[in-house]
Amino acid sequence: EIRGVIFDLDGVLTDTAEYHYRAWQRLADEEGIPFNREDNEALRGVSRRESLMLIVKNRPYTESQLQEMMERKNNYYVESIQNITPKDLLPGAIALLEELRQAGIKIAIGSASKNAHTVVEKLGIADQVDAIADGYSVQKPKPAPDLFLFAAHELGLPANQCIVVEDAAAGIEAGLAAGMWTVGLGPVERVGAAHVVLPSLAGITWAELKAKLNNLVT
Ligand code: G6P
Ligand code: MG
Repeated sequence: EIRGVIFDLDGVLTDTAEYHYRAWQRLADEEGIPFNREDNEALRGVSRRESLMLIVKNRPYTESQLQEMMERKNNYYVESIQNITPKDLLPGAIALLEELRQAGIKIAIGSASKNAHTVVEKLGIADQVDAIADGYSVQKPKPAPDLFLFAAHELGLPANQCIVVEDAAAGIEAGLAAGMWTVGLGPVERVGAAHVVLPSLAGITWAELKAKLNNLVT
């Protein structure tokens, strides 16, 4: 029986995936490194350092240059999330959170971002969430299962009683590696490995989601 849902944040509850992309694009442009929206698909859900490595590839930057670039990108990102309000919750997010709470299902955020707390506060959902696992919680980033296992532990639940909701391939991989149920949001080319694939959370009810997952086991 499912007793907890762990939501990724960027690209799942709010469109901050777009802000991450724009911040990386600005940095890449400044550095004269070719990078575009399509390249960015590989960065979805990927940690800050790993994202930078995917952009700079084998260009010979020193560690201090890499540090400076990560800081610069983060400054652009932090600037762009300042004006986030509850209106920036993606369609269907608040309805599902409320329904889950009413059903007594525990809710966690499982985000690789060190800015997750700020975004959760600005979205006005801090009171709806029982635990936040973020970029400070564990060492190994997704696709390692560690972050989601940490979140489940915070909720006091075993992995097999948790669902992970993700928009990134690395996140689905992490959820599966954790032994959790997975719901992928977006195209099958990206999240097709998930138990259930949906275009977005718009119009999705808890009853419906539960039924889809139950169909897999019966
Ligand atoms: C999330 C986002 C990624 C981002 C990562 C680290 O997983 O989907 O795009 O790179 O968090 O975020 P941070 O805010 O710590 O740089
Ligand atoms: Mg995401």
